[in-house]
Amino acid sequence: MSRDKSGFATRAIHNFHDPMEHQGALTPPLHLTSTFAFESAEAGGEIFAGERPGYVYSRVSNPTLDLLERRIADLEGAEAGLAAASGMGAITAVMWTFLAPGDEVIVDKTLYGCTFAYLRHGLAKFGITVTHVDMTDAANVTAALTPATKMVYFETPANPNMRLVDIAEVARIARAHGARTVVDNTYATPVLTRPIELGADIVVHSATKYLGGHGDLIAGLAAGSAEDITAIRMYGLKDMTGAVMAPFNAMLILRGLKTLKLRMERHCASARTVADWLAAQPAIERVYFPGLTTDPQHDLAEQQMADFGGMIAFELKGGFSAGVAMMNRLTLILRAVSLGDAESLIQHPASMTHSTYTPEERAEHGISEGLVRLSVGLEEVDDIIVDLDQAMASATVQAA
Ligand SMILES: Cc1ncc(COP(=O)(O)O)c(C=O)c1O
Repeated sequence: MSRDKSGFATRAIHNFHDPMEHQGALTPPLHLTSTFAFESAEAGGEIFAGERPGYVYSRVSNPTLDLLERRIADLEGAEAGLAAASGMGAITAVMWTFLAPGDEVIVDKTLYGCTFAYLRHGLAKFGITVTHVDMTDAANVTAALTPATKMVYFETPANPNMRLVDIAEVARIARAHGARTVVDNTYATPVLTRPIELGADIVVHSATKYLGGHGDLIAGLAAGSAEDITAIRMYGLKDMTGAVMAPFNAMLILRGLKTLKLRMERHCASARTVADWLAAQPAIERVYFPGLTTDPQHDLAEQQMADFGGMIAFELKGGFSAGVAMMNRLTLILRAVSLGDAESLIQHPASMTHSTYTPEERAEHGISEGLVRLSVGLEEVDDIIVDLDQAMASATVQAA
């Protein structure tokens, strides 16, 4: 059942599940099964050969995962979707599928720490050239293209420093060269940005974050053309990584998607309030948030994002030691990695999520040692600000 013309939240709640086909069950059934029985040996052979529809084994497909895959594809404006065991499972399945020895992938300077580690210490070992460019200027992508370039990959906003990449412009440049554009849309979610509608080929997600939304699972998703997604499913996922999503997690993400738009509205509104407040504090050196009118990429954010997201990065005047003192004084905001949960979470990228970079690499890739990353949660925004205020006041007094 498709309601193609309905709005985002309506489709996220209803599309492709008709309770009347499931004894009236409002919630889609959870297919907790590894394998599927065939009516006859011949039928099994035909399903294997792709000559008749049917399920074989849950490393390839499963009805609960199917529903989630169709929903994410629909919400991203893509033909097809793919569920994976983690964001890294989705990213690596995409790369293993479309890159071969001798190829080049051009990536942005700033990437989530494990994506960076996979590229630098993983893919590079297999004869694939990984070229980092500053994609805040799309001209740098044009300048870096070589005949070997097969893929252009970036996050926008990027984890952790909130840099944006002009999706339409970079995708146009890559397409003209015959390279695929792959966008990690974890921070923005399809509520705020739909890269495929802007010309990208494939979108990947850490569904662990906003899509799941409740900090209770690890999962990844991808969306793209039916042809690309089939290739990733049958090679990168089935054979190269085996990183399939468990049906139970698919069910939790389907539940998360029902409130995604509502949650994003609250994350965004609170992040705008917190960023404005932080920017006005004398103890703050700099706030990285594309919603601030002073942000150098504010115009691009207005152009390609429906709102500015729930993530903020900032530096305190006292640098790393002031950041640590402040973090240790928080009583509501939790010191934890991950993001996009109901709880506000704070962490220090240089010693945590981005410790996969060496200090020299962090300096080269625009991740400062004093940067603090805040995932603004769904608590009352006044309570978040009160906590930051008391932690910053005591930390400043202590540092003085
Ligand atoms: C932007 C981004 N991409 C990918 C990942 C990897 O996702 P996962 O932890 O679900 O493997 C993360 C995790 O923090 C992330 O922040």
